[in-house]
Amino acid sequence: MDDIEELRAKHLAAVAAARDAEALEAARIAALGKKGEISLKMRELGRMSPEERKSAGPALNALKDEIDAAVRARRAEIEDAALEERLEAEWIDVTLPARPRPSGTIHPVSQVMDELTAIFADMGFAVAEGPQVETDWHNFDALNIPPEHPARQEHDTFFMARAGDDERPPHVLRTHTSPVQIRAMQQQGAPLRVIAPGRVYRMDMDQTHTPMFHQVEGLAVGRDISMANLKWTLEEFCRAFFEVETVELRFRASHFPFTEPSAEVDIRCSWADGQLRIGEGDDWMEILGSGMVHPRVLRAGGIDPDQWQGFAFGIGIDRLAMLKYGIPDLRAFFESDLRWLRHYGFAALDIPELAGGLSR
Ligand code: DAH
Repeated sequence: MDDIEELRAKHLAAVAAARDAEALEAARIAALGKKGEISLKMRELGRMSPEERKSAGPALNALKDEIDAAVRARRAEIEDAALEERLEAEWIDVTLPARPRPSGTIHPVSQVMDELTAIFADMGFAVAEGPQVETDWHNFDALNIPPEHPARQEHDTFFMARAGDDERPPHVLRTHTSPVQIRAMQQQGAPLRVIAPGRVYRMDMDQTHTPMFHQVEGLAVGRDISMANLKWTLEEFCRAFFEVETVELRFRASHFPFTEPSAEVDIRCSWADGQLRIGEGDDWMEILGSGMVHPRVLRAGGIDPDQWQGFAFGIGIDRLAMLKYGIPDLRAFFESDLRWLRHYGFAALDIPELAGGLSR
C-alpha cells in the first residue's frame, strides 16, 4: 500500500510540474505508458495472492484513473496558457496608422492647398479642376481678354506650338486659374460655388517669381450674390487660414478684364522685429484680386447674366505659404532640397481640418 502512495505522490507531482505538452506527455508515459511504472505494477497483479490482489487491484485502478484525470486537467491548463500567451503576443491595434513613422513630408504648397480646401469646403465650395495646357480661348477670350487686349502681353504666356497642326485651336500653358471659372460654369451651370487650386505658368524668373507657381480661384454664382458676400467670404477665409481671431481687409478699386467692379484686397499686418503678424499693425499687404464676375464672362460660361450674378477671386498660393510659414525665398519651393523639405514640410498623417486646428 505504501508504495502505491509513493507512486501516487511521485507521478502527480511530475504531472503538476510539466510546463508544456511534451513534458506532460513524458510524465504520462512514465506512469501509464506500456512500460510506465503503474502499468508494470498492474501487470504484477497476476502474480499476487487473491487477497493481495483484492486490495491492490482497485487501489491501482483508482490511481490509474486519478493520474489519467490529472494529466487531462493539466493538458487543458497548458493549452489555455498557450492560447493566452498567443493572444497576448499577437494582439493588433487596428486603430494604429498604417505607417507609424512615414519618412516623407508634405510640401508647404500642398499643405496650404489642403488648408484652403478644408476652409472653403466648410463654406460650401467644391473643388473644380481644369487642364494646365489650356485653350487660348478659355485662358483669354472667354475671360474678356480679346487678342488685342494689353493684358495678354502682361501675362508672359508660354504658347504651345505643334508643327503642321493648324486644325487644333491654339493652346497655352494656363497663365492663371481663371479659365477654370469658364469650365466650371459650362459643366455645372448656375448656381455654383467652386474653388480651383492648381499650377499656373508665366515666363518670369527672379527672387519673387518662378515660371510655374500656384493659384486658387474662387467663384460663386447665384441670384443675388454681391460684393458683401465676397467681403464676408474673404474675411472668413483669412481668419481661418491665418488662425487669428480678427483680420482687417482693405478693398482697393482695381481693374481686371473678367470682373466689374474689381478690387484688390490688402490685409492689415505688422512687420515689427522682422516678424510678420496678421491682423494687427499699420502695414497693408496685397493678397489677392477679386470682383463681380463680368457679364461677358458669365455668358462665355453659358450662364445668363440677366438672371445670375457672382463674385470671383484669385489668390497666389505660394505667397500665402510664405506668409503663413515664414518662408523667405520662393525659388526654394521648387528646388527639391531635402533639407529644406524636412525643415518646412508637414507630417504626412496630419490632415488639415477646421475642427482639429489647420496646421497643428
Ligand atoms: N487671374 C488673376 C491673375 O492671375 C487673378 C484674379 C483677379 C482672379 C481677380 C480673379 C479675379 O478671379 O476676380 O492675376
